[in-house]
Amino acid sequence: MKRIKIAPSLLACDFSKLADEIEAVEKAGADMLHIDVMDGRFVPNITIGQPVVSAIRKVTRLPLDVHLMITEPMEHIKSFIDAGADIVSIHLEACNHLHKATAMIKDAGKKAGISLNPATPVVMLKDIIEELYLVLIMTVNPGFGGQKFISSTLKKIKELDGLKRELNPALMIEVDGGINVQNSASVVKAGADIIVAGTAIFGSKSYKGAIEKLKSVRDE
Ligand code: DX5
Ligand code: ZN
Repeated sequence: MKRIKIAPSLLACDFSKLADEIEAVEKAGADMLHIDVMDGRFVPNITIGQPVVSAIRKVTRLPLDVHLMITEPMEHIKSFIDAGADIVSIHLEACNHLHKATAMIKDAGKKAGISLNPATPVVMLKDIIEELYLVLIMTVNPGFGGQKFISSTLKKIKELDGLKRELNPALMIEVDGGINVQNSASVVKAGADIIVAGTAIFGSKSYKGAIEKLKSVRDE
């Protein structure tokens, strides 16, 4: 059985109690914190910027998994790393120079990821996949938490798993959007290694219970 990592998406937490929420998911067994950065251009919503990432860095030792849903991500990679990001994911659809951008992240000693919107084919990653720590498959259209899982993304996860076996077996496959205890087994079966979950964790009475349920799925 493969060990699944859980990345709570802070977008669904109570921002008025950010430090407490982080402490609670840390104690509940989170493996990393997923931070959704939105600029109101690449996606309609505006969320978290570098000052908040710096503040989060001060209150946790968990790796910070920063998901940049912004146009021109290369302009901001350095500042998010300076703020404390450990993993930086940029969107393929937002960047014309993926090789250069991922090299920037890796040269800074951090882990590089590329994210794909639901309509972007996995094959677009074929010539960059060996450079990556993770690929983030969006299982909803990015922009908002609490959306419904798009089930056609399952075949993309499977396809990525095939590409991973062939070209980069160490690659982590991360899935993001609408994942809950009902559908987590299907994404793991398809090949997911890291599950991002916002509403399914912060919307539950017991964070520990939710994380345990999301984690306990088997891929056999
Ligand atoms: C969507 C974000 C997700 C989102 C997940 O654009 O990238 O990380 O917050 O939230 P849930 O789990 O509620 O769909
Ligand atoms: Zn995200």
